[in-house]
Amino acid sequence: MEYHFTSPILLYSFVALLSILFLLFLKGNKKSLTKLPPSPPGWPLFGHMFNLGTLPYATMAKMKEKYGPVIWLKIGSINTMAVLSANVAAELYKNHDMSFSDRLIVEILTSHDFHKSSMAFSPYGPYWRMLRRLCNAGLNSKINDGMVHVRRKCVDDMITWIGKEAETAGIEKRGIEIVDFLFLANVNVIGNILFSRDLAEPNSKTGSELFASVTGFFHLCGEPNVSDLFSWLKPFDLQGLKKKMDRDLGKAMEIVARIVKERLEEKHKGGEKQRNDLLDVLLEFKGHGSDEQEKLSEHTILVFLLELFLAAMETTAHTTEWALAELLCDPEKMIAAKNEIRKILGKNRRFDESDIDNLPFLQAIVKETLRLHPPVVLIPKKASKDTVFMGYEIPKSTHVMVNLWAIGRDSEYWSDPLSFKPERRICPGLPIAHRLLPLLLGSLLHEFDWELFDSLPLDMSEKMGLTVRKLKPLRVIPRKRSC
Ligand code: HEM
Repeated sequence: MEYHFTSPILLYSFVALLSILFLLFLKGNKKSLTKLPPSPPGWPLFGHMFNLGTLPYATMAKMKEKYGPVIWLKIGSINTMAVLSANVAAELYKNHDMSFSDRLIVEILTSHDFHKSSMAFSPYGPYWRMLRRLCNAGLNSKINDGMVHVRRKCVDDMITWIGKEAETAGIEKRGIEIVDFLFLANVNVIGNILFSRDLAEPNSKTGSELFASVTGFFHLCGEPNVSDLFSWLKPFDLQGLKKKMDRDLGKAMEIVARIVKERLEEKHKGGEKQRNDLLDVLLEFKGHGSDEQEKLSEHTILVFLLELFLAAMETTAHTTEWALAELLCDPEKMIAAKNEIRKILGKNRRFDESDIDNLPFLQAIVKETLRLHPPVVLIPKKASKDTVFMGYEIPKSTHVMVNLWAIGRDSEYWSDPLSFKPERRICPGLPIAHRLLPLLLGSLLHEFDWELFDSLPLDMSEKMGLTVRKLKPLRVIPRKRSC
């Protein structure tokens, strides 16, 4: 019989008891660390894990006022250095990148050996470089060539679905959760980049199964896991999270494996057209030199495809939702954005990617949204060796978190940092998102007039998962544009 703890108090009391017993048995000298970054007071055994709350990136950002831009935290048994300002992040990336190039692997990501083939969780080295080259070859060429019309079609489909909702009776009484429609559009964009197919067709069993298992994956990644805080608890999986991840990730990998198998069978029969999607790039890969595998393993291919799917799905959908929420809170900016689009597009044609370059205010809205609401808030790194960083002695294996959320809201760099002011600029350097975000947002603004379902002030609270999203999905009423 298996026991999974459902009450956090019971669970933490149990962990505390076991930890005390464990520490009593621990022998040996601990290296005394003389110069660590400043640290707030914490709890015995648990360190700062109870100080951080449900939005740890926001709590850390507050700690900067008292403890400065580099702080030391003990999260359970994990030594952690948090980087909270752009200056410190620049110092880390410019002068110590190699010392902090490892990644912390959380326990649930060892499910199905995901971490072993993952690009995002590989340390910097030949394997990561190989995957990065493949990623660039497969993704970046898609920006410029035949994918433009595919993205257009995916967004057109979304506009049609929202249009149908807008015309149904009683829409004013229920509104729509816009993020659902953005997800569908994104799933199809990424489905085409990876496999040349729409995954979110109304009757696609594959699409809805993949969507459900990936949603489970995201949910589990947002759950704090005691196995990560006290590594000796890993074998017990006290919250049952690893078991759930085995189920959800297993399902997602099985679906991707089915798609890969179909493609291989097609190739085997011969005569199929060259698609030049990422799956073809991976299947035709031939490694060269001592640094690269001769052929990618099935596991590498599955994890690579799934990882891109995961990385693309949530980030773009939630960023577009935040942008629309900010505009709905500020009617003047909404009017300015719609007017800019109307001036360039006129009344009768649809928004096109080639319009983006002529819409500086729309681009600024996207950049300002990424500053205030970055979907990836904490970039995780790990010290690969003992390192002296800004005068502090950082021991090997320290977990490092670069807090993008804090950096984006730093009052030393941004005047009035909490206000949404698209007039200012930052460069997120994300090629696909750069195209997709203005295309999604611009199309939504151009095709519909939007009304908030809830009254102002809008609840802009956040929820942390693998990415950060709106706690309460944005509910809006779309109306086909009146003129
Ligand atoms: C709003 C859109 C997006 C934002 C804000 C965003 C942000 C980020 C950030 C901050 C990282 C971590 C970088 C680091 O470790 O230093 C990352 C990694 C990654 N992103 Fe995105 N991303 C977005 C969209 C996408 C899309 C559309 C894709 C794929 C089509 C994608 C694929 C990836 C991959 C594969 C990684 C891991 C790269 C590596 O470890 O080398 N992202 N993203």
